[in-house]
Amino acid sequence: MTEKDFLPKHTEALPESGKVAWKAPSNIALVKYWGKKENQIPANPSISFTLDACATRTTLSFQKKETTSKFSFDLYLDGKPKADFKPKIEVFFDRIAEYVPFVKEYHFVIETSNSFPHSSGIASSASGMSALALCLMDLERQMQPNMDPSFFMRKASFLARLGSGSACRSLEGDLVVWGKHESIEGSSNLFGLKYPFKVHDNFKHYHDTILLVDKGEKQVSSTVGHNLMHGHPFAKERFKQAYQNLTSLQAILKSGDLAEFVKVVESEALTLHAMMMSSNPYFILMKPNTLEIINKIWSFRKETQMPVCFTLDAGANVHVLYPESIKESVIQFVQDELVAHCDNGHYICDRIGTGAKKLIIPKK
Ligand code: PMV
Repeated sequence: MTEKDFLPKHTEALPESGKVAWKAPSNIALVKYWGKKENQIPANPSISFTLDACATRTTLSFQKKETTSKFSFDLYLDGKPKADFKPKIEVFFDRIAEYVPFVKEYHFVIETSNSFPHSSGIASSASGMSALALCLMDLERQMQPNMDPSFFMRKASFLARLGSGSACRSLEGDLVVWGKHESIEGSSNLFGLKYPFKVHDNFKHYHDTILLVDKGEKQVSSTVGHNLMHGHPFAKERFKQAYQNLTSLQAILKSGDLAEFVKVVESEALTLHAMMMSSNPYFILMKPNTLEIINKIWSFRKETQMPVCFTLDAGANVHVLYPESIKESVIQFVQDELVAHCDNGHYICDRIGTGAKKLIIPKK
């Protein structure tokens, strides 16, 4: 598929007004996306677990307006106006207008809330952008009632990508690939693809306990971080490595080899941060407690031989990943040894999820 496949082809008239709502999950990358080309095209393919508990709920109310020259919307987070999110949505609307021109025809009220604490240091851009993209596609579907369900998801992912790259992996469960990889048929730089191969039972119901090490705002945004990969001395090798890691991970997901899984996932996390530390200008997002936790996970794994590992996103928080079979021991370990390194002892117990859901709006 190409960009052209997502250009509009409405058959029915635009509805006057209405309201739709979607809940979309967050995701955690196993092979990381870090570095992009123009138009939100990733420099390498990535793969993520879709999460379950960490999610955004968005209600989109729409009302036809007179003039179509500008975008018009109000934005609320947890019921309160959120002016500082507006520029990001404005950029998003601008990028997607070619594909969903009706965005200029309406005044929107966007009401959004996150399941995870507001300032938890967990990025809400992936779940937030995918929930909004799904709402917009729901509106488009009203003008094209025979839309194919797989096209609906694909275009929603395509739109979400234009809001925040990794958001295109936040629609379906339980593993999603984004970026062209020769051995994954249907994979694309334009949208996320539900992992098309059979996955070993070891990876069913995988857990992700998110340790909130630093709940503050990140000092360096991911937009800036991605840009620093242009001209980065190790960029070319890094993109090659990510591609190869996705190849290795395919064999691992098939065989259920947890020891190899641990190696690939931890190496990806540390390489992501190594890229940040070797950018120009360089920066560090990990905190002392991030390293304390990593060392404790390594000691615990050595002592118990249990396949628990960590990954990191673009921040200081640590995602502790482990299979269902060892969940009691790991939760105990988290409580006994790791909680002490979390901001106010906060952590979130999450697990692999099944993807976004349409929400029923109660009739008044
Ligand atoms: O989608 P962005 O632009 O916020 O970038 C996300 C980058 C990482 O979370 C660090 C990695 C990834 O693949 O999700």
